[in-house]
Amino acid sequence: MCGIVGYIGKKQALPIIIEGIKRLEYRGYDSSGIAVINDENELLIHKKEGKIVELERSIPNDKNFISQLGIAHTRWATHGTPTTTNAHPHTDCSGSIAVVHNGIIENYQVLRKSLQKKKHNFISDTDTEVLAHLIEHFYHKTKNLHTAVRYSLRLVKGTFGIAVICKDEPNKLIAARRGSPLIIGVGEGENFVASDAAALVVHTKNVIYMEDDETVEITPDDFIIKTLANIDVEREISEIDWDISKIDKGKFDYFMLKEIFEQPTSIANAFRGRIMEQLNTSRLGGITPYIDELKNIKQICIIACGTSWHAGLVGEYLLEDIAKIPVEVEYASEFRYRNPIMNPNTLVIVISQSGETADTLAALKEAKTRGAIVMGITNVIGSSIARETDFGSYIHAGAEIGVASTKAFTSQITVLFLLALFLGRMRHLSPVEGAKYIQELDTIPEKVKQILESNDEIKKIAEQYKDVRNALYLGRGYNFPVALEGALKLKEISYVHAEGYPAAEMKHGPIALIDENMPVVFIAPEDFVYDKVLSNIEEVKARKGKIIAIANKNSNSIERLADHIIYIPRTLPALTPLLTVIPLQLLAYHIAVLRGCNVDQPRNLAKSVTVE
Ligand code: AGP
Repeated sequence: MCGIVGYIGKKQALPIIIEGIKRLEYRGYDSSGIAVINDENELLIHKKEGKIVELERSIPNDKNFISQLGIAHTRWATHGTPTTTNAHPHTDCSGSIAVVHNGIIENYQVLRKSLQKKKHNFISDTDTEVLAHLIEHFYHKTKNLHTAVRYSLRLVKGTFGIAVICKDEPNKLIAARRGSPLIIGVGEGENFVASDAAALVVHTKNVIYMEDDETVEITPDDFIIKTLANIDVEREISEIDWDISKIDKGKFDYFMLKEIFEQPTSIANAFRGRIMEQLNTSRLGGITPYIDELKNIKQICIIACGTSWHAGLVGEYLLEDIAKIPVEVEYASEFRYRNPIMNPNTLVIVISQSGETADTLAALKEAKTRGAIVMGITNVIGSSIARETDFGSYIHAGAEIGVASTKAFTSQITVLFLLALFLGRMRHLSPVEGAKYIQELDTIPEKVKQILESNDEIKKIAEQYKDVRNALYLGRGYNFPVALEGALKLKEISYVHAEGYPAAEMKHGPIALIDENMPVVFIAPEDFVYDKVLSNIEEVKARKGKIIAIANKNSNSIERLADHIIYIPRTLPALTPLLTVIPLQLLAYHIAVLRGCNVDQPRNLAKSVTVE
């Protein structure tokens, strides 16, 4: 996914758009670029491979770049390697039009060939460059940039979030979206456009969320939204409900560490105001219109990707255990192409932190096409998935900047727990059982705080394992998905190969990997399968594996068996994932830092994958 920022107004554009893409660098960071139109009506482009700070350093410090209109882009390469030539913005043949783009133009080859026949000259390997030449083609016919953009986008198959400027219309900024987020920031005598509110919130909290197949013509004092069919659109101005301090590292070295330490608060925010003590149940906003349907659901299908998929797996255990409703969990990318069978009375739940993951968005549209009711569990207000679902609940985790998801995972699980409680109490769960769950949930933020106090101890363990090349994570029941999540955290930020398995499954092959060089992380809270996990630990110990256990104090035999123990407080089995994942997040974080990795911006990754 890429980051886009545009500015038009009374201030200098350059510092605003550079600062803006820095706030979006977590979205994609292999190259970046800017385009401004200065007072001499020159369109100036500057772009560079590598981090935005390198772009900033290399921009000529001369008056030419003084301008009140500019666009900027930070890239996560889809088509074309991350080089300066392939970086955005891209221009037309004459160098009069500049375009930045987030998304994929699926028919770009066909369009490119057709334009080349019309003597358009291409210099990059990207799909985006096609847009610049297409707009040029229609601009020559219409002499109107907004119209030329609309005509061009009608020919495009695929997704886009774009911003366009043209030196022949130096008082306009055109933007458009389909499938990639785009937000208009409304200021006083100035206006903005960005792919994420994080780039705007320091300037204005008044925003407009664009919808698919809409374009907008922005001037310093106005904006005109139209559909691709040239129909005017009136849209309410929304207010962003958080401020810039929420996207600042503060005292932490990385956003990921800050977000790990935010979890006592973010988990509390996920259930704040959603508990009905008197009725010993929960109350999730947005569900009310679907109460009757929810009474009759016979099956739940959870769809997600990555960490959100792991949260969905925890949700399977929660919903089957507490609400006694059959659940299946699907990878979004698989669901959308395998012609799934959707029985009547199926509730589909799509989980997505960003609310922009292309596979999840496509899967939810497929589920709706098959007549399912779709609930969203997302973190970004106004995101595409949040707006596409029939109803949903925000997890209220606040902006999650670190590419490796942490607080969103525990907040997703918290909302899934609340949903399981609500559905359970609607069916068979007694008030006493409901009360027991609610009382224990209330203790979780404090228990997470206690685990975070082990940070230094976990760092010491990480120091002993920072050079490992492989690792195994094993858990049972509710903690099998946590084993998968722990392995993903280590993989994605430290580039160490790690696998998660159900603990018992280790005997069916992975045990062949065990030797004195293989650390095995066992998630072993003292629950109903603890003794079984102990047997698995014995099996690993017998083969000289190194054992790191996540366990409760005074659990029998664990001190005898484990090489390292990270203690966590006791809780109900259903709530253990909220505790057992914390040490795994910290272990992955410290190993990555010790290996010199860029924890917030791991290689090859982006915060939200808005392409297939
Ligand atoms: C998680 O640490 C990864 N960054 C990735 O797996 C992520 O969970 C996945 O891309 C889904 O993102 P979403 O929750 O925004 O849909």
